[in-house]
Amino acid sequence: KKVIHLDTVGSTNDYAKEIGNKVSGGTLIISEQQTKGKGRLGRVWKSKSGDGIWMSLIIKPKIEPYKAPFLTLVAGASVVKALSNLGVEASIKWPNDIIVHNKKICGILTELSAEMERVNYVVIGIGINIKTIDFPDEIKEKATSLYKEGYKLSRVDIVRQFCIEFEKLYKGYILDGNKQDTLELCRKYSAIIGKQVYVIKNNKRELVKCIDINENGNLIVKEKNGEIQEIMSGEVSIRG
Ligand code: BTN
Repeated sequence: KKVIHLDTVGSTNDYAKEIGNKVSGGTLIISEQQTKGKGRLGRVWKSKSGDGIWMSLIIKPKIEPYKAPFLTLVAGASVVKALSNLGVEASIKWPNDIIVHNKKICGILTELSAEMERVNYVVIGIGINIKTIDFPDEIKEKATSLYKEGYKLSRVDIVRQFCIEFEKLYKGYILDGNKQDTLELCRKYSAIIGKQVYVIKNNKRELVKCIDINENGNLIVKEKNGEIQEIMSGEVSIRG
């Protein structure tokens, strides 16, 4: 397994996509800072030097493209387990945010390169706020860093623990079709199962109760009218 360590880059995810076809699966790209860090839904991800872990993992699983979203859950479960191993109480806001004390400390952005029914590679981008103190006004109420929440951890330890946990869950899923270990962690550390959340769909916001995460990694919710729905992606908000 190869680690590429950069001082600066636009986005580790974009860099990963540039080299994705040339490197072997398991290549990890880490940058001290990103000048064009990307979040989901076209958002900007602030990635100042030394403030956090900005990394992208390139993997080359032999799976059909529709199975790739599950890898986001594998990554999220690995982050939460890694943090738990280091004494941090974190939880997963399905499908790709990691929460500490009700605020987001980590986001995951998975990108896929596929042709026809074949995956070329998957880029799993992970941003973990470690030392960030000042967040922009728009996200001040919702974002935090490990340091702000009272945790002083080394970035190397977190990356190492993440790699150990990811390798276990990833191999289990790809080689043995074992989804259960990932799903169990996603349920155990869920920030939303059993709670009310807002689901944003077609620009509409609806209050629902989260029931479970099913075998496919989809969220099962109960609507106000009692109807049970399966949600594949989309935005889930814990705030009003
Ligand atoms: C989100 O919560 O919206 C996802 C954030 C993902 C941020 C990481 S930082 C490393 C990698 N490179 C990027 O440009 N984005 C991801």
